[in-house]
Amino acid sequence: MSAATPAKKRVAILISGRGSNMAALIEAAKAPDYPAEIVLVMSNVPDAGGLAIAAANGIATATIDHKAFNRDREAFEKAMQAELERHRVDIVCLAGFMRILTPWFVAQWEGRMINIHPALLPAYKGLDTHARALADGATEHGATVHFVTPGMDEGETILQEAVPVLRGDTPETLGKRVLEVEHRIYPQALRMIATEYTLL
Ligand code: GRF
Repeated sequence: MSAATPAKKRVAILISGRGSNMAALIEAAKAPDYPAEIVLVMSNVPDAGGLAIAAANGIATATIDHKAFNRDREAFEKAMQAELERHRVDIVCLAGFMRILTPWFVAQWEGRMINIHPALLPAYKGLDTHARALADGATEHGATVHFVTPGMDEGETILQEAVPVLRGDTPETLGKRVLEVEHRIYPQALRMIATEYTLL
């Protein structure tokens, strides 16, 4: 690495499930010129499918099971924070991470934690976004990558892309169309954040 080449940002991905967005980030980060490297995948669900994908890619994994903390959210988050610090993480990507985070944890990562949401925020915060968009007769739907702030799905948008809602769509067909967009824009958004952060 020449003196002019900035070090890659060290990224942790937090998941709770299958990890398809995580996999998209891992693939993107394999490009030599990508400004971030995935150094940790952490799950609150011990058998989350994404953990095996991460391990198969040679990435360190950690499981911090929230159920072991008897509803003590602060203790759960302190354990996650310790793991993030141990891996000297610069940026946190939430990718289907299904726990609400406390203002304390969010403050630790202000401006350095991003999330992917399957809707065109500020429309359809929360769950079941595809079914809700269909029920409303929406003609457009999509995905948003945004900074994480204490309010759920409320932080500043980094990237957003729309898809059309087609006649006969079900939550599954619409969700599949949105997921393709998610897999494209999440790596782009991380590239932007990692690059901008480098310049600071
Ligand atoms: C994605 O739709 C993401 O937008 C939402 O949760 C889902 C996670 O899917 N936050 P995956 O685990 O990335 O496949």
